[in-house]
Amino acid sequence: MPQKGKNQVNRSGSSKASVALLFEAIRLSAGTMTAYKSGDPTTLGRLYGRTKNKALRANHAKLVDELLPRVSVSDEGPVSGKALFGEDCPLHFEIGFGGGEHLAGRADMLPNHGFIGCEPFLNGVAQALAHVENFQGKGPLANVRLHMGDALEVLGRIPDGALSFVYLLHPDPWPKARHAKRRMMNDGPVDMIAAKLKPGGEFRFGTDHPVYLRHAMMVMQRHMQQFEWLCEGQKDFLNRPGGWPETRYEAKARRQDHEVWYFRYRRA
Ligand SMILES: C[S@@+](CC[C@H](N)C(=O)[O-])C[C@H]1O[C@@H](n2cnc3c(N)ncnc32)[C@H](O)[C@@H]1O
Repeated sequence: MPQKGKNQVNRSGSSKASVALLFEAIRLSAGTMTAYKSGDPTTLGRLYGRTKNKALRANHAKLVDELLPRVSVSDEGPVSGKALFGEDCPLHFEIGFGGGEHLAGRADMLPNHGFIGCEPFLNGVAQALAHVENFQGKGPLANVRLHMGDALEVLGRIPDGALSFVYLLHPDPWPKARHAKRRMMNDGPVDMIAAKLKPGGEFRFGTDHPVYLRHAMMVMQRHMQQFEWLCEGQKDFLNRPGGWPETRYEAKARRQDHEVWYFRYRRA
């Protein structure tokens, strides 16, 4: 695979140099980016995108029939550590886990923490269930609960201040400007994430999409009273931080020679 030069432009006209400029611009423009309408009704309470693809393999169909009911978040009521795992424990929440590689990897790293993953795409849920049943030949993950559907519906039922981590990794880009309100990174969801995180909790976001990157940085700029961007320089957003397992989508982006950007925000 050809290696990119330091300032070489990638598929969409972005480069490490231009991202560095963007970084500086965002830093310097604190408080000046106000050209938006508050509220984003289309992101909240709506589900966009496909929910299934090809027919499930027999073993995946069995997992959906038999294991999913056992590890699913209940359809109603508050969602707490005690309700899900029988005890209060640090809670992690992943929005749109895809095939569940990151969710399962984190759950394996932190066996005493509880993990809630939400994903409406049936084939992805089946892949995640395979990890829950037996992660990398090491046995089942007892600390994972899943919801097949809209993450925001479950997030809304979590008590305020209950979460230690929220993950939003490679969300659907909805690259057309007229679809921008469908993006998960919008004021409504970010306010909800802020409410559900405990002080000192962390919101992790990753993308390889230059349009989404710029959009996300502008949205987050409006939420700097709620979050501190954990970033001292380019290396912090150009290199995957430790304890951040690679997702399938990220691996695909890397194979296509895309840059990937990583963001960590601490709840104030
Ligand atoms: C581009 S994929 C990335 C998947 C995974 N995070 C990864 O990095 O491999 C975005 C995922 O978000 C899911 N998604 C879209 N809207 C969602 C919602 N409202 N709640 C939960 N997941 C959602 C999609 O089904 C899709 O699997």
